[in-house]
Amino acid sequence: MDKRYLSERVAALKPSGIRKFFDIVATMDDVISLGIGEPDFVTPQPILQSGIRALEDGETHYTSNSGILELRQTLAEHLRTLYGVTYDPVSEMVITVGVSEALYLALTALLDPGDEVIISTPCFVAYQAEVLLAGGVPVEMPTFMEDDFQLRPQALQAAITPRTKAILIGYPNNPTGAVASREVLLELGRIAEQHDLIVLSDEIYDQLVYGVQHVCFPTLPGMRERTVLLGGFSKNYAMTGWRIGYAAGPADLLQGLLRVHQYTIMSAPTIAQIAALEALTQGDEYVAEMREEYDRRRRLIVTGLNQLGLATFEPHGAFYAFPSIAVAGMDDETFSQKLLEEQRVAVVPGSAFGAGGDGFVRCSYATAYEKIEEALERLETFMRRYG
Ligand SMILES: Cc1ncc(COP(=O)(O)O)c(C=O)c1O
Repeated sequence: MDKRYLSERVAALKPSGIRKFFDIVATMDDVISLGIGEPDFVTPQPILQSGIRALEDGETHYTSNSGILELRQTLAEHLRTLYGVTYDPVSEMVITVGVSEALYLALTALLDPGDEVIISTPCFVAYQAEVLLAGGVPVEMPTFMEDDFQLRPQALQAAITPRTKAILIGYPNNPTGAVASREVLLELGRIAEQHDLIVLSDEIYDQLVYGVQHVCFPTLPGMRERTVLLGGFSKNYAMTGWRIGYAAGPADLLQGLLRVHQYTIMSAPTIAQIAALEALTQGDEYVAEMREEYDRRRRLIVTGLNQLGLATFEPHGAFYAFPSIAVAGMDDETFSQKLLEEQRVAVVPGSAFGAGGDGFVRCSYATAYEKIEEALERLETFMRRYG
């Protein structure tokens, strides 16, 4: 394609490392994919049924720009019950097309050209690109397995310049599975306050934690007023295809996000908002069931990978394991490519997730237990050759 017509910003974007890889997977048979970043479960029945009913009832119109008021009210109540954080459903929340849109709104509303956003990496592949699209400059701040992939407060201090506008964090983390500790988050909060920075906290996996507590960032002292909380339904409720997320934050910030949303999206899909409301009121037991199953798979894969000599930090959140592939004596792209070609197992090279990801691969356990067992057997054959 002739790139002459594309804006410099768009022409300079790199294709996602994940997409490239999955285009190859799509052409192959008998692949066990540990590459997927979405629940393998279908959306729970009551939620599905409410979507169907909404269609049959002719709920085919726009909603308020901010989203259905009852959904915002229920969501505000949900956040208050779970974490004790309060938001005014009228002025401090907007329902979006996934966290993807919520993040886009926040960055577009907050950044002037050249503003820097510090991103803790490895991270969700869209963060850097979304900052660039909003005219900002992403500044990667790597985390390391020896720190359990927690942020290093000194590294954060060192990354701050007069152009730093915001810090973007995502815990529970994609791709490492790390859950942020309260101590480190408190330290991050102190630094944000000291330098008057906004914090964008992507908590899309908040309910997928195993044996630990998720700390909701805006509940920390002084943080509610400088945080945009980004959350969603895709992962917790197995609703990726419905495309519903939200942003919540102090009214002066939120009204900025809402302005962008008004002119770009208008309102999130009506049927999906109705289903999301059902998820909040009826979804808890299904979330608990799915979480239990993820946990069973998590223990299988983490133990299995470590037994094969692939050093794996114990992830306490999301649905990813992030083994080091250092023993195999090759880089993560080569490892992933050879594993796919020779054993038909798909994983994602860690370097696709930014600084600190090289030398690792992401293995999603959002796939059936038996498939993970089979993938581990294939990996064993692979490691006999390369380990
Ligand atoms: C950390 C993180 N944030 C956001 C998203 C996007 O989620 P949504 O489906 O709500 O747009 C993903 C999807 O993989 C993710 O892993």
